[in-house]
Amino acid sequence: MSDLFTPLKVGAITVPNRVWMAPLTRCRAGEGNVPTPLNPTYYAQRAGAGLIISEATQISPSGQGYPFTPGIHSSAQRDGWSLVTKAVHAAGGRMVLQLWHVGRVSHPDFQPGGAAPLAPSPIELTTEAHTPQGKKRRGTPHEMTQPEIRACIEDYRNAARLAKQAGFDGVELHGANGYLPDQFLRDGTNRRTDAYGGSIANRARFMLEALDAIIDVWGPERVGVRLSPSGTFNQMEDSTPRETFGHAVRELSARRIAYAHITESTQQDAPPKDAIPVSFFRPLFEGVLVTNGGFTYEKAMAYLKEGWADAFAFGVPYIANPDLAQRFQKFGAKAPLNTPRPDSFYGGTDVGYTDYPAL
Ligand SMILES: Cc1cc2nc3c(=O)[nH]c(=O)nc-3n(C[C@H](O)[C@H](O)[C@H](O)COP(=O)(O)O)c2cc1C
Repeated sequence: MSDLFTPLKVGAITVPNRVWMAPLTRCRAGEGNVPTPLNPTYYAQRAGAGLIISEATQISPSGQGYPFTPGIHSSAQRDGWSLVTKAVHAAGGRMVLQLWHVGRVSHPDFQPGGAAPLAPSPIELTTEAHTPQGKKRRGTPHEMTQPEIRACIEDYRNAARLAKQAGFDGVELHGANGYLPDQFLRDGTNRRTDAYGGSIANRARFMLEALDAIIDVWGPERVGVRLSPSGTFNQMEDSTPRETFGHAVRELSARRIAYAHITESTQQDAPPKDAIPVSFFRPLFEGVLVTNGGFTYEKAMAYLKEGWADAFAFGVPYIANPDLAQRFQKFGAKAPLNTPRPDSFYGGTDVGYTDYPAL
């Protein structure tokens, strides 16, 4: 039987263990949303993860929704990221970049020309945005036209190319947590009547077109997709989540991508009572299935034993423990763990970022 330290072939990437680092926004990019010299240090410290999934990284200026998040649409950003991938590879690790467009979760202050954020439909997210000038109401987003949709798909393609030039091992399409592809997919945020709205197949079209553009650049064997079928973060809802996400996952399977990353919950979002367990998706996806959300060593081992998932992404535990996989390998369920400090999760300096000790 496999354990968490049995190597795994993930498309074209072979990983030495099933303890992965979840994507974690840390809001520590510099001027021009370019990675700074602190970022390679942080990621290289975590190179013992089976696979590092980067923090969400905007594919275009309009894709940004929070201060100090990195981008992958300029050559300076690409060059900044290439220092990260070099450091991770030198430390023996593997890393994919999470490609992000926040859609309606943005604010005009982030948008070129102060425009309204882009979305499938003009439905406002009523939580306040964290802008550089403090918390502000977002306003009604702009319903994307078909030419705007096509331009956005090209932004995914361009970002995928830059990620390749930056030396990543692959990319993950961020289809989770109420950001743009998820806004198209779920009927709570998509009221369109054209080819991108209405039926489940139509609502999945935007995500799958973005995915196909990314696959054109990388091949399916170096691409993953993250979905959050039970997530309500960012005021998300769907009237038939099992059908909606079942369709999406079958489409991912048909494309033979390297992995599907299906969260059971996120830190901001405890699983609802009727949360869909990852095991529901197992028969629908033929490749590597990764899950996430409140996992411990024991819970991951239990899921592995049941065959519900092949690998596990750890978020907060990886913030606080740069050598999490090695701690698990050495001590199993008894691994001593550092205490996370949430006040330094989003933004700041090296404090709470690169100063958590390894064993
Ligand atoms: C500080 C922080 C930043 C996060 N940033 C991202 C992100 O950039 N992309 C993403 O898909 N999820 C993000 N998440 C969600 C995590 O990837 C993960 O789903 C969540 O922390 C639950 O896993 P855990 O219980 O192992 O921490 C973030 C969570 C936290 C706490």
